[in-house]
Amino acid sequence: MNTHADSLTDSTAAPLPTRYTRTAITLHWLIALLMIGNVMLGLSADSLPDDWVRPVIDTHKSIGITVLGLALLRILWRVSHKPPPLPREFPSWEKVAAHLAHFLLYLLMIALPLSGWLHDSAWKDAATHPMHLFNVIPWPRIGYVMNLDPALKETLHDRFGTLHTWLGYALYALLAMHIGGALKHQWIDRKSVLRRMAP
Ligand code: HEM
Ligand code: HEM
Repeated sequence: MNTHADSLTDSTAAPLPTRYTRTAITLHWLIALLMIGNVMLGLSADSLPDDWVRPVIDTHKSIGITVLGLALLRILWRVSHKPPPLPREFPSWEKVAAHLAHFLLYLLMIALPLSGWLHDSAWKDAATHPMHLFNVIPWPRIGYVMNLDPALKETLHDRFGTLHTWLGYALYALLAMHIGGALKHQWIDRKSVLRRMAP
Protein backbone atom coordinates (compact mmCIF):
# COMPACT_ATOMS: atom_id res chain seq x y z
CA MET A 1 0.00 0.00 0.00
CA ASN A 2 1.28 3.46 -0.84
CA THR A 3 1.38 5.36 2.46
CA HIS A 4 1.64 9.09 2.94
CA ALA A 5 5.25 8.64 4.12
CA ASP A 6 6.06 6.72 0.93
CA SER A 7 4.64 9.47 -1.26
CA LEU A 8 6.81 12.06 0.52
CA THR A 9 9.95 10.13 -0.34
CA ASP A 10 8.77 8.94 -3.75
CA SER A 11 11.99 8.75 -5.74
CA THR A 12 10.11 8.91 -9.08
CA ALA A 13 8.75 12.44 -8.38
CA ALA A 14 10.82 15.19 -10.07
CA PRO A 15 12.70 17.16 -7.38
CA LEU A 16 11.56 20.75 -6.97
CA PRO A 17 14.09 23.26 -8.39
CA THR A 18 16.10 25.12 -5.74
CA ARG A 19 17.55 27.79 -8.02
CA TYR A 20 16.30 30.06 -10.76
CA THR A 21 17.29 29.03 -14.29
CA ARG A 22 20.52 30.39 -15.74
CA THR A 23 18.55 32.62 -18.14
CA ALA A 24 16.42 34.07 -15.31
CA ILE A 25 19.56 34.75 -13.25
CA THR A 26 21.40 36.40 -16.15
CA LEU A 27 18.41 38.59 -16.98
CA HIS A 28 17.86 39.48 -13.29
CA TRP A 29 21.40 40.81 -12.74
CA LEU A 30 21.74 42.42 -16.16
CA ILE A 31 18.47 44.33 -15.72
CA ALA A 32 19.32 45.20 -12.07
CA LEU A 33 22.71 46.67 -13.09
CA LEU A 34 21.24 48.59 -16.03
CA MET A 35 18.35 50.00 -13.97
CA ILE A 36 20.51 51.07 -11.03
CA GLY A 37 23.07 52.59 -13.42
CA ASN A 38 20.26 54.40 -15.23
CA VAL A 39 18.89 55.87 -12.00
CA MET A 40 22.36 57.31 -11.33
CA LEU A 41 22.58 58.78 -14.84
CA GLY A 42 19.03 60.21 -14.60
CA LEU A 43 19.69 61.80 -11.20
CA SER A 44 23.10 63.18 -12.20
CA ALA A 45 21.79 64.98 -15.31
CA ASP A 46 21.00 68.26 -13.51
CA SER A 47 24.40 68.61 -11.85
CA LEU A 48 26.61 67.86 -14.87
CA PRO A 49 28.55 70.43 -16.94
CA ASP A 50 26.52 71.55 -19.99
CA ASP A 51 28.47 69.60 -22.61
CA TRP A 52 28.00 66.37 -20.63
CA VAL A 53 24.24 66.59 -20.29
CA ARG A 54 23.27 65.58 -23.84
CA PRO A 55 25.52 62.48 -24.13
CA VAL A 56 24.57 61.34 -20.61
CA ILE A 57 20.83 61.72 -21.25
CA ASP A 58 21.16 60.02 -24.65
CA THR A 59 22.91 57.09 -22.97
CA HIS A 60 20.19 57.07 -20.27
CA LYS A 61 17.52 56.78 -22.97
CA SER A 62 19.40 54.00 -24.80
CA ILE A 63 19.88 51.98 -21.61
CA GLY A 64 16.21 52.53 -20.73
CA ILE A 65 14.97 51.18 -24.07
CA THR A 66 17.36 48.21 -23.69
CA VAL A 67 15.80 47.50 -20.27
CA LEU A 68 12.34 47.59 -21.87
CA GLY A 69 13.39 44.89 -24.39
CA LEU A 70 15.12 42.74 -21.76
CA ALA A 71 12.17 43.06 -19.37
CA LEU A 72 9.75 41.83 -22.06
CA LEU A 73 12.06 38.84 -22.69
CA ARG A 74 12.28 38.20 -18.97
CA ILE A 75 8.51 38.25 -18.50
CA LEU A 76 8.09 35.79 -21.40
CA TRP A 77 10.70 33.54 -19.76
CA ARG A 78 8.99 33.91 -16.36
CA VAL A 79 5.54 32.87 -17.58
CA SER A 80 7.00 29.80 -19.28
CA HIS A 81 9.36 28.69 -16.45
CA LYS A 82 8.19 28.10 -12.90
CA PRO A 83 10.53 29.68 -10.31
CA PRO A 84 11.72 27.63 -7.29
CA PRO A 85 9.08 27.81 -4.53
CA LEU A 86 9.97 29.94 -1.49
CA PRO A 87 11.07 27.91 1.56
CA ARG A 88 8.05 26.36 3.32
CA GLU A 89 9.04 27.75 6.70
CA PHE A 90 8.64 31.40 5.61
CA PRO A 91 5.56 32.95 7.25
CA SER A 92 2.79 33.49 4.73
CA TRP A 93 2.88 37.31 5.09
CA GLU A 94 6.52 37.25 3.94
CA LYS A 95 5.67 35.11 0.93
CA VAL A 96 2.81 37.44 0.00
CA ALA A 97 5.05 40.52 0.47
CA ALA A 98 7.83 38.97 -1.64
CA HIS A 99 5.44 38.03 -4.46
CA LEU A 100 3.79 41.47 -4.38
CA ALA A 101 7.19 43.23 -4.49
CA HIS A 102 8.30 41.02 -7.40
CA PHE A 103 5.10 41.74 -9.33
CA LEU A 104 5.51 45.51 -8.76
CA LEU A 105 9.18 45.34 -9.80
CA TYR A 106 8.14 43.68 -13.08
CA LEU A 107 5.61 46.47 -13.54
CA LEU A 108 8.32 49.12 -12.99
CA MET A 109 10.71 47.41 -15.44
CA ILE A 110 8.09 48.24 -18.09
CA ALA A 111 6.53 51.44 -16.70
CA LEU A 112 9.81 53.31 -16.08
CA PRO A 113 11.13 53.04 -19.65
CA LEU A 114 7.66 53.53 -21.12
CA SER A 115 7.02 56.75 -19.13
CA GLY A 116 10.51 57.99 -20.11
CA TRP A 117 9.80 57.26 -23.76
CA LEU A 118 6.41 59.02 -23.55
CA HIS A 119 8.07 62.02 -21.81
CA ASP A 120 10.74 62.15 -24.50
CA SER A 121 8.21 61.76 -27.35
CA ALA A 122 6.31 64.83 -26.02
CA TRP A 123 9.54 66.91 -25.98
CA LYS A 124 9.11 69.98 -28.21
CA ASP A 125 12.55 69.45 -29.81
CA ALA A 126 12.08 65.72 -30.44
CA ALA A 127 11.68 66.18 -34.21
CA THR A 128 14.99 68.06 -34.55
CA HIS A 129 16.85 65.64 -32.22
CA PRO A 130 16.23 62.14 -33.61
CA MET A 131 16.99 59.32 -31.22
CA HIS A 132 19.72 56.74 -31.86
CA LEU A 133 20.32 53.81 -29.49
CA PHE A 134 23.93 54.14 -28.31
CA ASN A 135 24.49 56.63 -31.16
CA VAL A 136 24.10 53.81 -33.70
CA ILE A 137 20.61 52.35 -34.18
CA PRO A 138 17.83 54.79 -35.16
CA TRP A 139 14.95 54.54 -32.66
CA PRO A 140 11.50 56.10 -33.17
CA ARG A 141 9.60 58.41 -30.84
CA ILE A 142 5.95 57.51 -30.17
CA GLY A 143 4.35 59.07 -33.29
CA TYR A 144 0.91 59.62 -31.75
CA VAL A 145 2.40 61.78 -28.97
CA MET A 146 4.87 63.56 -31.24
CA ASN A 147 2.08 64.69 -33.57
CA LEU A 148 -0.18 66.23 -30.91
CA ASP A 149 -0.88 69.95 -30.69
CA PRO A 150 2.23 71.76 -29.24
CA ALA A 151 0.40 73.20 -26.21
CA LEU A 152 -1.01 69.80 -25.25
CA LYS A 153 2.41 68.25 -25.85
CA GLU A 154 4.02 70.72 -23.44
CA THR A 155 1.50 69.76 -20.73
CA LEU A 156 2.03 66.05 -21.41
CA HIS A 157 5.81 66.50 -21.37
CA ASP A 158 5.52 67.82 -17.78
CA ARG A 159 2.99 65.16 -16.71
CA PHE A 160 4.98 62.22 -18.11
CA GLY A 161 8.15 63.72 -16.62
CA THR A 162 6.49 63.85 -13.18
CA LEU A 163 5.19 60.30 -13.63
CA HIS A 164 8.72 59.15 -14.58
CA THR A 165 10.14 60.78 -11.42
CA TRP A 166 7.44 59.22 -9.17
CA LEU A 167 7.96 55.78 -10.69
CA GLY A 168 11.61 56.32 -9.76
CA TYR A 169 10.54 56.95 -6.12
CA ALA A 170 8.47 53.74 -6.20
CA LEU A 171 11.54 51.87 -7.46
CA TYR A 172 13.70 53.19 -4.58
CA ALA A 173 11.10 52.09 -2.00
CA LEU A 174 10.60 48.64 -3.53
CA LEU A 175 14.31 48.06 -3.95
CA ALA A 176 14.89 48.92 -0.29
CA MET A 177 12.28 46.26 0.63
CA HIS A 178 13.63 43.78 -1.92
CA ILE A 179 17.28 44.06 -0.86
CA GLY A 180 16.32 44.35 2.83
CA GLY A 181 14.24 41.16 2.54
CA ALA A 182 17.07 39.24 0.86
CA LEU A 183 19.56 40.37 3.53
CA LYS A 184 17.12 39.56 6.38
CA HIS A 185 16.77 35.99 5.11
CA GLN A 186 20.54 35.77 4.68
CA TRP A 187 21.71 37.17 8.01
CA ILE A 188 18.80 37.02 10.46
CA ASP A 189 16.74 33.98 9.40
CA ARG A 190 19.85 32.16 8.12
CA LYS A 191 17.75 30.81 5.25
CA SER A 192 19.44 32.16 2.14
CA VAL A 193 17.36 33.21 -0.86
CA LEU A 194 20.42 34.89 -2.41
CA ARG A 195 21.79 31.45 -3.29
CA ARG A 196 18.70 30.88 -5.48
CA MET A 197 19.58 33.94 -7.58
CA ALA A 198 23.39 33.93 -7.27
CA PRO A 199 25.20 34.03 -10.64
C1 HEM B 1 16.57 47.23 -10.16
C2 HEM B 1 17.02 46.19 -9.48
C3 HEM B 1 16.26 44.90 -9.27
C4 HEM B 1 15.07 44.46 -9.80
C5 HEM B 1 14.17 45.19 -10.80
C6 HEM B 1 14.81 43.15 -9.25
C7 HEM B 1 13.70 42.36 -9.54
C8 HEM B 1 13.47 41.08 -9.08
C9 HEM B 1 12.32 40.30 -9.38
C10 HEM B 1 11.14 40.74 -10.24
C11 HEM B 1 12.48 39.08 -8.79
C12 HEM B 1 11.48 37.92 -8.81
C13 HEM B 1 11.89 36.87 -9.78
C14 HEM B 1 10.73 35.93 -10.08
O1 HEM B 1 10.30 35.18 -9.21
O2 HEM B 1 10.26 35.99 -11.22
C15 HEM B 1 13.73 39.11 -8.08
C16 HEM B 1 14.26 38.09 -7.34
C17 HEM B 1 15.37 38.21 -6.54
N1 HEM B 1 16.18 39.33 -6.40
FE1 HEM B 1 16.01 41.05 -7.39
N2 HEM B 1 15.83 42.80 -8.40
C18 HEM B 1 16.72 43.85 -8.37
C19 HEM B 1 17.90 43.94 -7.64
C20 HEM B 1 18.29 43.02 -6.72
C21 HEM B 1 19.41 43.17 -5.82
C22 HEM B 1 20.35 44.38 -5.77
C23 HEM B 1 19.47 42.04 -5.06
C24 HEM B 1 20.48 41.77 -3.96
C25 HEM B 1 20.17 41.61 -2.74
C26 HEM B 1 18.39 41.16 -5.49
C27 HEM B 1 18.14 39.89 -5.01
C28 HEM B 1 17.15 39.04 -5.47
C29 HEM B 1 16.97 37.67 -5.00
C30 HEM B 1 17.83 36.95 -3.95
C31 HEM B 1 15.87 37.16 -5.67
C32 HEM B 1 15.27 35.75 -5.51
C33 HEM B 1 14.15 35.80 -4.54
C34 HEM B 1 13.57 34.42 -4.35
O3 HEM B 1 14.29 33.60 -3.81
O4 HEM B 1 12.45 34.16 -4.78
N3 HEM B 1 17.68 41.80 -6.49
N4 HEM B 1 14.32 40.36 -8.29
C1 HEM C 1 15.44 51.59 -16.79
C2 HEM C 1 14.65 52.54 -17.19
C3 HEM C 1 14.73 53.94 -16.63
C4 HEM C 1 14.97 54.36 -15.35
C5 HEM C 1 15.23 53.49 -14.11
C6 HEM C 1 14.93 55.80 -15.37
C7 HEM C 1 15.12 56.61 -14.25
C8 HEM C 1 15.18 57.99 -14.28
C9 HEM C 1 15.41 58.82 -13.13
C10 HEM C 1 15.57 58.33 -11.69
C11 HEM C 1 15.42 60.11 -13.56
C12 HEM C 1 15.61 61.36 -12.70
C13 HEM C 1 14.23 61.85 -12.36
C14 HEM C 1 14.22 62.96 -11.33
O1 HEM C 1 14.32 62.64 -10.15
O2 HEM C 1 14.05 64.10 -11.73
C15 HEM C 1 15.20 60.11 -14.99
C16 HEM C 1 15.16 61.23 -15.79
C17 HEM C 1 14.92 61.20 -17.15
N1 HEM C 1 14.68 60.10 -17.93
FE1 HEM C 1 14.66 58.17 -17.29
N2 HEM C 1 14.68 56.23 -16.64
C18 HEM C 1 14.55 55.12 -17.44
C19 HEM C 1 14.26 55.11 -18.80
C20 HEM C 1 14.13 56.22 -19.60
C21 HEM C 1 13.84 56.21 -21.03
C22 HEM C 1 13.60 54.94 -21.86
C23 HEM C 1 13.81 57.51 -21.44
C24 HEM C 1 13.54 58.06 -22.83
C25 HEM C 1 13.51 57.39 -23.94
C26 HEM C 1 14.10 58.35 -20.30
C27 HEM C 1 14.18 59.72 -20.32
C28 HEM C 1 14.48 60.51 -19.24
C29 HEM C 1 14.63 61.96 -19.31
C30 HEM C 1 14.50 62.82 -20.58
C31 HEM C 1 14.90 62.39 -18.00
C32 HEM C 1 15.08 63.83 -17.53
C33 HEM C 1 16.52 64.17 -17.34
C34 HEM C 1 16.65 65.64 -16.90
O3 HEM C 1 16.61 66.48 -17.76
O4 HEM C 1 16.74 65.87 -15.68
N3 HEM C 1 14.29 57.53 -19.19
N4 HEM C 1 15.05 58.80 -15.40
